[in-house]
Amino acid sequence: MKNKITIIADNKADKPLVSEHGFSILLEIGSKKILFDTGQGDSLFHNARLLGIPLNDLDILVLSHGHYDHGGNVKKIIDLNPAIDFVAHPDCLHTRYSYHKGVGLESVSLTEENRAAILSLPEKQIYWCREEVEILPRVWLTGSIERVNDFEDTGGAFFADKKMENPDLLMDDLSLWIEGDNGLTVICGCCHSGIQNTIEQILLVNQNFSIDTIIGGLHLVHASTSRMDKTITYINSIEIHKLIGAHCSGESAMKRFKKELNADVEIGSAGLSFSL
Ligand SMILES: [Fe+2]
Ligand SMILES: [Fe+2]
Repeated sequence: MKNKITIIADNKADKPLVSEHGFSILLEIGSKKILFDTGQGDSLFHNARLLGIPLNDLDILVLSHGHYDHGGNVKKIIDLNPAIDFVAHPDCLHTRYSYHKGVGLESVSLTEENRAAILSLPEKQIYWCREEVEILPRVWLTGSIERVNDFEDTGGAFFADKKMENPDLLMDDLSLWIEGDNGLTVICGCCHSGIQNTIEQILLVNQNFSIDTIIGGLHLVHASTSRMDKTITYINSIEIHKLIGAHCSGESAMKRFKKELNADVEIGSAGLSFSL
C-alpha cells in the first residue's frame, strides 16, 4: 500500500508557501485521504493550491485537539467535503484559555463557527474518540492520553476558566499512528500530553512494533532543561529512525534533538512530504 504524508500548514514555510502559527498535515493512505488538523488561517488553502493538493476530496478530518491553531478551518473543510467523517475527542469543543506574560489571558478555543460546523454534521459522520481506535486499516488514533510521568506537562499556562482557577489538562489531545513495514509512524498535533506519555501509550497496544518516525508539533517551546534531558534520554532509548519536529516543537528543543538524538532529525515546514 502506498502512503504519503505532506505538511500543508506550519509555523515554517519557504516562499512562495506561507507560514502561520498553526498545523495541518495530509495523510494519503492508499486511496483514502485524511486531513489531520486544519491550521489557523489561510495558509492551508494557499499552500494546498501551490502544492497541487485538492482539499475537496477528503475522506476523514481528524482534529488533534480543540485549539484555534489546529481547528481554524474546520468549517471550510466541512463545507468543501459535506460527506467527510469527523474524528476528535469531545473535549475539543470546550472553552479554554491561555495566559502569556505581557499579553494576558486569551481565548484559544475553536471559534463558534467551527464548533457549530462540527455539531451540524449528521451523527453518523461524527466519531467521538476517547480511546484508541483504528480509523482506517493500519491507521490508529490514541484517544485521550494518560499522563503517567512527573516531568511532562501541557507546555503552557492553559486554563479552563477565565479566573484561571482550573487548569486545562488538554485531555482531548490525541495523536495518530500508522503501522508501516519498518515500524510505526507517529503524528502529533501539539503533543500537549508529552511525547513520552504519548509513545508509552501507543507502545502499550503495539507490543510487537517499534517506533520508526515521529512527526509533528511537540510543544517543547518552554520545556525546562531537565524535561529536555529526560525527553532525549527516552527517545534515544526507544531507538527511532527519524524525528520531524514541526509547529510548536521549539527552536532550542530542535537544536538539542539535532545534536543529541541518535536519529535523523529534521525541522518540519509546509510542503515537506515523504512516502511511507
Ligand atoms: Fe498548536
Ligand atoms: Fe495546542
